[in-house]
Amino acid sequence: MSKPKIAIFASGGGSNARKILEYFQDSETAEVALVISNKKEAGVLDIAGAFGVPTHLINRQSFYETTGILEVLKSHGIGFIALAGFLWLLPAYLVKAFPGKILNIHPALLPKYGGKGMYGHHVHEAVKAAGDLESGPTIHFVNEHYDEGDIVFQASCALDPDDQPEDIARKVLALEHAHFPRIIEEVILQDKSRKN
Ligand code: GRF
Repeated sequence: MSKPKIAIFASGGGSNARKILEYFQDSETAEVALVISNKKEAGVLDIAGAFGVPTHLINRQSFYETTGILEVLKSHGIGFIALAGFLWLLPAYLVKAFPGKILNIHPALLPKYGGKGMYGHHVHEAVKAAGDLESGPTIHFVNEHYDEGDIVFQASCALDPDDQPEDIARKVLALEHAHFPRIIEEVILQDKSRKN
C-alpha cells in the first residue's frame, strides 16, 4: 500500500514546515506531497521547492466560495493536512472532507490565548502581559472554529519573569520544532491501526 500523503498549509516563514519536510523525507510512515500557501511571497514556498515538493497557491475567494481545493488535494492523493502557521479559518467543507485528519499547531497552552486574532506575537505579548510563568505549543485537531478542536499534545516550558515576548516566542518555537513532526506521525500511525 502506498504511504499516506500529507499536505502542509502555511502562510509564513515555514520553519515548522521545514521540520516536517525534513522529518518525513526518508519516512516509511508518510510523505509530504504538497505545500499550500495563501501568500505568494511566503518563505515556505521556497522551502518546499528545495525539497522538491509541489506547491499550490490559494486565493481567498476561491477558497471560501468554491470547493476547488478538494480537487487539488485529491489530485495529489492527500490524506492528512498539517496547518503550520496557516492564518485562515478552514471552511466547513474542507473540515468535513478530512474528519480527524487535520492538525494545527498553536503557540500557546490552549484554551488560553486562542481564537481569532490570537496569532504570532499577539499570543506571546498576551502571555507576557498576564505574567504567566509557563507557555508552550498546543497541537490539536481542527474543527470549524479557531483553536477549538480536540487537543492531541501540549508541551510546556518555564518562563522567566524577565522574558520578553520574543524570548517566549523562541522557547515555544523550539518546542514546536521538537514535537510537531513526530505528533503528526503518531496521529497517522494511530489512524492506520484503526483501519487494520
Ligand atoms: C508557529 O508559532 C505556529 O505555532 C503558529 O504559527 C507559527 C508558524 O511559524 N501557528 P513558522 O512559519 O513555522 O516559522
